[in-house]
Order: sequence, then C-alpha cells, then structure tokens
Amino acid sequence: MTRRLLFLLLSLLSTTAAAPTTFTAAPAPAPPASDSCNGIFLSYIYIGGVQLPPTLKSKPTQQPYSFKSTLTILNNGLDPLKSWRVFVGFQHGEYLVSASNAVLADGNSIPGFVANGTVFAGYPSTDLMTAIQTAGDITQMSAQIDLVGTQFGVGSPDVPMPTNITLANDGWLCPAPTMQGCDGVELDIRFQTSFILVINVLRTHSSRSWFDSTHHLGTSQMQVCCTEDSALKNNITTADEFLPRQNGDLTIMYDVISTYDSSYLAKVTISNNNPLGRLDNWKLSWDWMREEFIYAMKGAYPEVLDTTECLNGKQGVYYKNLDFSTVLNCQARPTIVDLPPNLVNNTNLGSIPFCCRNGTILPPSMDPSKSTSVFQINVYKMPPDLNRSELAPPQNWQINGTLNPNYQCGPPLQVSPSLYPDPNGSPSDKTAFASWQVVCNITEPKGVKPKCCVSFSAYYNESIIPCNTCACGCPSPSSTTCSTTAPALLLPAQAILVPFDNRTALANAWAELNHFATPNPLPCGDNCGVSINWHLYTDYTKGWTARITIFNWDGEPFVDWFTAVELDKAAPGFEKVYSFNGTKLSGVDNNTIFMQGLPGLNYLVAETPGADPQKDPSVPGKQQSVISFTKKQTPGINVVGGDGFPSKVYFNGEECSLPTVLPSGSAYRKGSNISISVLLAAVVAFLLMQW
Ligand SMILES: *[C@@H]1O[C@H](CO)[C@@H](O)[C@H](O)[C@H]1NC(C)=O
Ligand SMILES: *[C@@H]1O[C@H](CO)[C@@H](O)[C@H](O)[C@H]1NC(C)=O
Ligand SMILES: *[C@@H]1O[C@H](CO)[C@@H](O)[C@H](O)[C@H]1NC(C)=O
Ligand SMILES: *[C@@H]1O[C@H](CO)[C@@H](O)[C@H](O)[C@H]1NC(C)=O
Ligand SMILES: *[C@@H]1O[C@H](CO)[C@@H](O)[C@H](O)[C@H]1NC(C)=O
Ligand SMILES: *[C@@H]1O[C@H](CO)[C@@H](O)[C@H](O)[C@H]1NC(C)=O
Ligand SMILES: *[C@@H]1O[C@H](CO)[C@@H](O)[C@H](O)[C@H]1NC(C)=O
Ligand SMILES: *[C@@H]1O[C@H](CO)[C@@H](O)[C@H](O)[C@H]1NC(C)=O
Ligand SMILES: *[C@@H]1O[C@H](CO)[C@@H](O)[C@H](O)[C@H]1NC(C)=O
Ligand SMILES: *[C@@H]1O[C@H](CO)[C@@H](O)[C@H](O)[C@H]1NC(C)=O
Ligand SMILES: *[C@@H]1O[C@H](CO)[C@@H](O)[C@H](O)[C@H]1NC(C)=O
Ligand SMILES: *[C@@H]1O[C@H](CO)[C@@H](O)[C@H](O)[C@H]1NC(C)=O
Repeated sequence: MTRRLLFLLLSLLSTTAAAPTTFTAAPAPAPPASDSCNGIFLSYIYIGGVQLPPTLKSKPTQQPYSFKSTLTILNNGLDPLKSWRVFVGFQHGEYLVSASNAVLADGNSIPGFVANGTVFAGYPSTDLMTAIQTAGDITQMSAQIDLVGTQFGVGSPDVPMPTNITLANDGWLCPAPTMQGCDGVELDIRFQTSFILVINVLRTHSSRSWFDSTHHLGTSQMQVCCTEDSALKNNITTADEFLPRQNGDLTIMYDVISTYDSSYLAKVTISNNNPLGRLDNWKLSWDWMREEFIYAMKGAYPEVLDTTECLNGKQGVYYKNLDFSTVLNCQARPTIVDLPPNLVNNTNLGSIPFCCRNGTILPPSMDPSKSTSVFQINVYKMPPDLNRSELAPPQNWQINGTLNPNYQCGPPLQVSPSLYPDPNGSPSDKTAFASWQVVCNITEPKGVKPKCCVSFSAYYNESIIPCNTCACGCPSPSSTTCSTTAPALLLPAQAILVPFDNRTALANAWAELNHFATPNPLPCGDNCGVSINWHLYTDYTKGWTARITIFNWDGEPFVDWFTAVELDKAAPGFEKVYSFNGTKLSGVDNNTIFMQGLPGLNYLVAETPGADPQKDPSVPGKQQSVISFTKKQTPGINVVGGDGFPSKVYFNGEECSLPTVLPSGSAYRKGSNISISVLLAAVVAFLLMQW
C-alpha cells in the first residue's frame, strides 16, 4: 500500500522533473546527499539509453545498447583536490564514445573499451577548489563528466550501473557506494528536494523503513562520500601549491623552459627508474589538445614530417605568414623518435645532453648516463591560448620500444617547476616556467605475447625441454600446418643450436630413439626473436652451477643487452657469473641476478646465414656463461627439485615465456664431496669446449 503510494508520487514527480520547465540554472547538479558529505562527493547517474542495431534476439548478452550517464565530483572538503582521479567500475563491456571534461588516466584514447573499469582524470581543468576558496562557486568546486557510450546486454528496465565508484587519488578512503535512484530521470536540485520531502512525508506516515522501498525505486544513481585517510593526512602537505613528484618505472618530465605569447619551448626528459626497465628505439606519442603543432625539435624528431593538417586546417589560416615548409609536424597525435648517435654534436638537431642514442634507454644500474633521454620541442599554439601563461601539456602519452616491457602512462600532473642547468653555462640552475610529470609503469596487458622464451635442461636428463609452442605468438591461421596447442617436442642438445624450421628431422629422430609420442600435426615453433637456455650443470653438497645461453634468432644485433633471472630460493647463494658481468640486485628485486656483457662483449650478434646456406642452417647470435652458487646461505635447497630453475627470466626488460615442466630424471647424481676448485676447473674446461 505504502509502496504504491510512493510509486505514484514518484511517477508524478518524474513527469514534473522531466518536463522542459527550467528551474534555476545549476551547472553541476549537487545532490542533497552531498550536503552531509564533508569530503569528496562522487555520484554516477545513469540518464538513459536505447537498444542499438543489430538486434540479437538469440544472444541477449551481446545486444548493444547506448548509454548516457553523468559522473559528478564535488569537493566539499577543507582542502583543494589536486588532479582528481575517479575510478568507475564499468562491468557491461562498455565502449566509451565520449567523455566531457576528462581524459582516461591510463593514457588510452577515447573512444575505446573501458570494460573492466577505468580511471578518469580531469581535463582541461584538473583541480577542484573548495567552497571556502570560491565562495561556494560550484563550477570551480566540482567537475561534471558527461559520458556517452555503448554497453552490452543490459536492456530496459534494468540499469547498467558500474560495480563501484571511488576516488583514486592517494590518501582518500571511500566506503562502498550507495544506490539511489528514480529510473533514469536526471535529478536536479529542485526535484531532489521534493523527492526528499516526499520521502520524509512517507517516512512519517509509514512504520516501514523507506530503505525497503528504495529497491523498487530503480537503481540509476550511485553515490559515495570519500574522506581523507587520517593515517596519511599528516604526510600530505596541503600547503604545497603543487603535487609531489611520483615514483614509477619510467617518469617523463615536460618542462616549459621558455614561453612566448604564441609559442613555447619545452624540455622533455624520459628517465628510467626500474632496474629491469629498458627501451630500444623508443617511440613516444601524445595527443595535442589545443591544436598545437611542432615547429622545431632538437635531440629527437617526429617519425613523419607532415604539415598537411596545418595547411588544410585552422593553423594555416591563423599563421598566414609562416613558412610551413620549415614546420616539422602538424599531426594531432605525433610520434617522436630519438636521433641516431652521429647527430649528437649537430648544432641544429642535436647538442642536447642525454640525446641521440637511437632510442636506447638502459637501466640506471647499467649506465646512469644512458638511463635518460632528453629532447627539446618548440611548440606553436593557437587561439585562444595566445598568452605566455596559457600552457597546456599534451595528453594520452604512450611510449614503447622494440623488444621492451609495456609501459602504461598516466596523465601529466603539474608539479613544482624543475631546476635545470643554465644553457648559457652560468653556475646557478634555472627554474622551468611550468613542469608536468607523466608516470609510466610497466604493465603486463593480457593477450600481449612475450618476445623471448626459455628452454630448460639439466645434467641428469639428455632431453632439452624447449620453449613453449607459440611462446611468442602463432603463425597466422591461414598458413597453419602445425598444431598451436600440442606441447613442444623434447629435443637433443644439438637441436637448440639450429633454427626451429630445421629442427624437425632431429626432433623426430630423437622422439623415435626415446619412444616419445609425436603429435600430428607437429607443434608450431616458439616464434621468439630471443631464446635463453637454462642448463642445470652440476649439483654438489656445497654448491651448484648453471649455464645460461642466450640465442639471437633475429636479423638485428643487440647492443648493451642484459638478462636477469629471478631465483626465489637460490639467489642468496649467488657467487659469480664467469663470462658476463653479473650482480645480484638489491631492494625488492633482491632475488634477481642481473647479467650484462663484460666491456667489449656487450654485443649479441644477429642471426647469420650458415657457411653453405644450401647445407647449413643459419646460425643464431650466441652468448654463454656459467653461474656458480654456494649452498651455505641456502641450507636445504632442492636444486634439482626446482629451486635451481628460475621463476622469471627477463631479456632487455621483457619478461620471457618459461616452460611449464622441469627436466626430470630417475638418477639424480647427488652430492659427492668434490671440492669447489675441481668444480671450477670443470667449468673452465667446459667453457673452452663450448657446445
Ligand atoms: C577484462 O578482464 C577480463 C578478465 O580479467 C579479460 O579477459 C578482458 O580481456 C578484460 N577486458 C579489457 C577490455 O581489458
Ligand atoms: C570499491 O573500490 C574500492 C577501491 O578500489 C574498494 O576498496 C571497495 O572495496 C570497492 N567496493 C565494492 C563494493 O566493490
Ligand atoms: C606517514 O607518516 C607516518 C609518521 O608521521 C609514518 O608512520 C607513515 O608510514 C607515513 N605514511 C606514508 C604513506 O608515508
Ligand atoms: C606506478 O608505480 C608506483 C609504485 O611503483 C606507484 O606509486 C604509482 O602510483 C604507479 N603509477 C601509476 C600511474 O600507476
Ligand atoms: C661529439 O663531441 C664530443 C666532444 O667534443 C666527442 O667526444 C664525440 O666524439 C663527438 N661525437 C660525434 C659523433 O661526433
Ligand atoms: C638505429 O635504429 C635503427 C632502427 O632499428 C637501425 O636501423 C639503425 O641501424 C640504428 N642505428 C645505429 C647507429 O645504431
Ligand atoms: C659490472 O656492472 C656493474 C653495474 O652495472 C658496474 O658497476 C661494474 O663496473 C661492471 N664491472 C665490469 C667488470 O664491467
Ligand atoms: C594572460 O593570462 C594571465 C593569466 O591567465 C592574465 O593575467 C593576463 O592578463 C593575460 N594576458 C593577456 C595579454 O591576455
Ligand atoms: C608503439 O606505439 C605506436 C604509436 O603509439 C603504435 O603505433 C605501435 O603499434 C606501438 N608498437 C608496439 C610494438 O606496441
Ligand atoms: C630481500 O628482501 C626482502 C624484503 O624485500 C627481505 O625480507 C629479505 O631478507 C631480503 N633478502 C636478502 C637476501 O637480502
Ligand atoms: C632450414 O629451414 C628453412 C625454412 O624451412 C629452409 O628454407 C632451409 O633450407 C633449411 N636449411 C637447411 C640447411 O635445411
Ligand atoms: C627428461 O625430462 C622430461 C620432462 O620432465 C621427461 O619427460 C623425460 O622422461 C626425462 N627423461 C629421462 C631420461 O628421465
């Protein structure tokens, strides 16, 4: 009874609210629940949506629907909120088509899929002022993000709400959001006030809690009030005008070092902070948001020189007298590449410290002078930004390299201006005009295949466990004459020295000799450019040794290569790498042994054709070393049982695919009391022999 009354009243109100009568203009609707929030109030309101073609009657979960919703962030606290970031837990395969006043914090572009939830960051305005600072100006205290997109499988009367909304800024606590709502009607202040009134009327007239009834009201609004985490509060210096610089695997500074009304000069510094991070032939791209274009650069270069977008666009009209043949790039999303080393001293293009290494960025432990890349960029601006203090960094940063980890970059956050050495040589540093920081972390996105793989072998088993089938991807289906799922065939030792295509005869003969079953069709290859063999070489009472061999199956050599092996239990016993420069990392990676070429041997050559290409298969580039361990620090270690095999292997920062089985053997030759010196003699003798 009460419910019916409530429903009636609400329907009445809905029609009133939906009617085009305009109430007092409220640019950002501030739901009254926000009044009781003394922190950051978030709300997500579903406005509506319709079914989209095609009609998929038999597959209702794949039926597309449009959706429109509004995300509101309101600062009701005492302190301004710098660079707000809000997580929205989308869960219906959402494809976001547009979002006003925001960008995606993971650097992905809109439109795009946000199916597993995404973090929004403010753009162009990033900060939310307080009511105190603005005399309650809601436009400066809040941000309203209008979202338009497509979702799958949620048709009327159901409402495609996210799982969760939370403030993603550090130092804030958000409880689980509460659901409110009234069937997709946009709430405005007047309506909500009457809504609350009705609710109050009903509450006083009904013994039931109205919360029971809200389940029938629809579920189109989600809200949450986030409060400052008091545990962190003391550490956050709210007096600071700028956000603190963040840590991350790779940080990029965008420092504006000189500025004019219509152009500015920025210095871009890419710094690698991860001991296993690396880039080769880096490519950096971003979106210009204000129709800017690149007039000139030093220390790096656009991948394509293209000014057609300017000549056909507003830029050509505004800069009538500019000679666009000298402009470098007008793409809305340019890609920037490093210059080759021979231009390092070129006064027009190079002459920037830390520039011009063909896009190589090494871990800081390998060579600090090669762990940053720097370039300068001269940017031309467009109206209405023609004021030397109107500066906006580009957005949606992305950086990648050839055989490298995947980096995901956040939005540029304004930080305190950087100091940089005076280019005129004066001893005091200059201060940048404005500085932004982009933090990029290494991610392992699903579905991205590794680019290197590992094979295992051991002294007690003559078969090598090769790299997994399709470890680095499968051949395209049309050309598939091999099985993409069959496990790789065990191999005799000599077979891993020849390219996969030339192994078949050896592998078949080995299978026959050992009575292994061979699948039909045979398994596909690993398709990796680099493979690494980890061979358990000896295991004695006091110590053990392994031999690592790196193969380059690619046409390109690797300069300054490195590899790293994570040994969960065995790392504390690490003694020495004989033919490489090996060190155990410290800090969180203290179970990882880092290896690079010794001076002069830091070059892993490319695959080369055999001496007689008719008869001899091609020869991979190869580097090999023995690694020794003691068992003093690791009592009880079970080397052959698995502790002697790495849990992770990296090559040039890229994590390699590992086999799923370990070599097994009936007869482990266990611990004779042979002395370490005899052991070493054996190792050295072996090294002289090679394979
Ligand atoms: C979402 O997560 C699921 C499961 O983790 C994954 O299969 C899917 O690829 C993800 N989708 C996107 C768009 O990241
Ligand atoms: C919402 O997200 C926050 C932060 O990710 C988490 O702490 C909270 O448990 C989530 N709540 C729900 C209901 O999933
Ligand atoms: C914040 O400061 C307290 C002591 O003032 C310290 O115990 C705590 O670890 C700090 N938290 C962070 C995240 O730095
Ligand atoms: C990157 O990782 C660091 C910790 O290594 C973390 O503090 C930071 O929030 C991460 N940044 C992003 C954008 O994920
Ligand atoms: C650049 O100049 C430095 C210092 O004068 C010199 O050592 C270096 O060899 C030069 N490099 C090239 C590629 O010319
Ligand atoms: C720079 O990188 C390109 C692309 O990989 C390569 O072709 C070229 O040989 C490299 N140049 C130098 C000097 O290393
Ligand atoms: C080995 O590498 C470390 C760290 O990169 C370096 O400090 C050391 O000089 C190198 N040793 C040799 C012999 O090259
Ligand atoms: C440039 O912008 C600043 C701050 O936004 C403003 O104070 C100044 O008047 C502007 N100058 C011109 C010439 O518009
Ligand atoms: C690297 O980035 C560029 C541009 O952002 C993209 O076109 C390219 O596919 C990326 N390459 C890899 C290997 O991810
Ligand atoms: C490695 O680091 C962990 C914590 O990060 C620490 O507990 C452990 O003792 C360290 N091990 C060594 C051998 O330093
Ligand atoms: C190795 O395999 C490739 C690709 O199948 C083939 O072209 C080449 O002739 C083979 N080489 C030898 C020596 O069998
Ligand atoms: C060698 O190891 C593989 C994989 O564990 C196993 O299938 C095979 O039987 C082993 N060979 C011998 C001789 O033990």
